Amino acid sequence: MIKLKKAIIPAAGLGTRFLPITKAVPKPMLSVLDKPTIQFIVEELESVGIEEIVIVVSPGSEVIQKHFGENNDLYERLLSDGKQKLYEIALKTSSFKVQFVEQKIPNGLAGAILCAEPFVKDEPFALLLGDELLYAENGQKPCMKRLAEIFESTGKSVIATMEVFGDEVSKYGNIGFSDEVDGVMTVNAIVEKPAVNDALSNNAIIGRYVLSGEVMGMLKNLKPHGNEIYLTDALDALAAKGELLASCFEGDRYDVGDKFGYIRANVEFALKSEEIGEETKQFIKELAQRI
Ligand code: G1P
Repeated sequence: MIKLKKAIIPAAGLGTRFLPITKAVPKPMLSVLDKPTIQFIVEELESVGIEEIVIVVSPGSEVIQKHFGENNDLYERLLSDGKQKLYEIALKTSSFKVQFVEQKIPNGLAGAILCAEPFVKDEPFALLLGDELLYAENGQKPCMKRLAEIFESTGKSVIATMEVFGDEVSKYGNIGFSDEVDGVMTVNAIVEKPAVNDALSNNAIIGRYVLSGEVMGMLKNLKPHGNEIYLTDALDALAAKGELLASCFEGDRYDVGDKFGYIRANVEFALKSEEIGEETKQFIKELAQRI
């Protein structure tokens, strides 16, 4: 069994869809309720025990490093004010073992992954796209846990998918598969954002992957499309060799790189919150009467 130990989180997008806030605040620091989206992603890795994490950031993102660093003045202040719970919340942010690497040239997802090569070398790694938040209810298996289990028992790369319909297929990477056993599909082809008629199935790739060590080498040898190298090209080559699996994730997914997805995440997490869940529910009911 190969144990998965490392993870890459590409989070170097400029977030221009969220201007003006992203002029000075890096997009991964936008918060859902009180927590930056990047912390949600890092916390997803707790369920799989991955502790070696590298976040690929754009230049000028020091505030993200500050978020995951120590702040002793704040900790002392919270303790001396008797705010134990807030102290623990603040302290938790510095408990993660995260490293940072800058993506100086915006050359696509595969370019971001290659920036993390010195950290991953030829070992397998989890890949979590910073724009997507996943939520698993009690009784549902967290997506990363499922992917790690499949990888560790088969040694093959595995990607998470979701079912989509109609025009939605054209927004995502799309998989074709030859068989499915216990919810694990053997992928035989991949197309990136196909026209509706060219889709291979209703299974769209979401931003969670576990990739074997050979992928980093494959990325280095791909032909660029203009300035960008596509992760999909490497995945398609793996699929052609029968070396790529896929599994449909359980739970909810929020695209927080999109304004409406971001609002949806905030509303749903507010509803789930112990602190403000009840008043949010009352407010939404009243609002629904008015609109
Ligand atoms: C990327 C991938 C695509 C995948 C998607 C998931 O696209 O290239 O295959 O379906 O993430 O969110 P992007 O959204 O960066 O255009």
